[in-house]
Amino acid sequence: MRVLVTGGAGFIGSNLVDRLLADGHEVHVVDDLSTGKRENLAGAAGQDRFTLHEMDIRDPALVALATELQPEVVCHLAAQISVRKSVADPVHDARLNVEGIAAVLTAAHEGRTRKVVFASSVAVYGRPATIPVPADAATDPRSPYAASKLSGEIYLATFRALYGLEYTTLVLSNVYGPRQSPDGEAGVVAIFTDALLNGTPTVLYGDGTQTRDYVFIDDVVDGFVRACGAEGNGRRFNLGTGIQTTDRRLHSLIADAAGAQDKPGFAPPRPGDLPAMAVDPVPAHDGLRWQPRTDLPTGVKKTVEWAANRRMT
Ligand SMILES: NC(=O)c1ccc[n+]([C@@H]2O[C@H](COP(=O)([O-])OP(=O)(O)OC[C@H]3O[C@@H](n4cnc5c(N)ncnc54)[C@H](O)[C@@H]3O)[C@@H](O)[C@H]2O)c1
Repeated sequence: MRVLVTGGAGFIGSNLVDRLLADGHEVHVVDDLSTGKRENLAGAAGQDRFTLHEMDIRDPALVALATELQPEVVCHLAAQISVRKSVADPVHDARLNVEGIAAVLTAAHEGRTRKVVFASSVAVYGRPATIPVPADAATDPRSPYAASKLSGEIYLATFRALYGLEYTTLVLSNVYGPRQSPDGEAGVVAIFTDALLNGTPTVLYGDGTQTRDYVFIDDVVDGFVRACGAEGNGRRFNLGTGIQTTDRRLHSLIADAAGAQDKPGFAPPRPGDLPAMAVDPVPAHDGLRWQPRTDLPTGVKKTVEWAANRRMT
């Protein structure tokens, strides 16, 4: 199968690329390397079934590329991914995430693509009434990022109705693992890992009881691969574990794996931060035969090992 991965030089995208290549597929990445890194594609770069197209997804040349390649599936991950940046500059967020999906869907349609698999976010649920959040819970976007992800979901349904272009939406909880960047504010696992390996201070916002649903990268990639098939057409699934982990426990797990002291500092809670989050993955068991298989201690250990090895090189 020929697959086009937008954002394929990023954290999730590059791990997906490696898995698709290992499964024998031909993979084309479209990425402008704004946050993605060439080094993430070092393993893919030597393979003849792989091509990196350094390009903005909104470049009109994307249509010509898709028309030429006719990718069977497009996995759309390229995005502005920061909630806080979206609040600071909603227009920039919309340009990337709303204009971006319209451009990608237009290209997919012109390229006779069978299916688009889209990376959405738990942000679309806002402040959910029930945890773990069911995949059919009411959406309640409370940031421009959440609004732009939800727009993406609406565009998918629109192109399906217009042209029969199939899609599956994957609502990702907190994804962690190798290649996640500790730069910036996203990715608390990467931030704690980096700090604890470097012996620099770590900070928990609030009293440490805030919870999130951490899902390991290999499991998320497996969800994307399953969604590339015929299953789950026209549906959205949560990719999470349903398990809430407190900030304090996460810190202890990472400190333990890094052989560092488990002594975080504490700072006042940040305005707008949710006190708790987890999503219900059960419909993905039925609809995609997907299950998260990596427990948090195992995933944290793999992540810390990867980060420690990278520091050596
Ligand atoms: N990491 C998470 O926990 C998480 C959670 C929910 C949803 N998501 C979604 O998953 C997707 C991937 O996230 P990630 O964590 O791998 O982020 P990332 O920043 O590592 O990857 C995004 C990639 O998109 C590329 N990109 C950005 N704008 C582009 C443009 N205009 N044209 C071409 N390429 C562009 C970047 O260079 C980067 O390689 C995003 O859509 C994000 O919203 C991630």
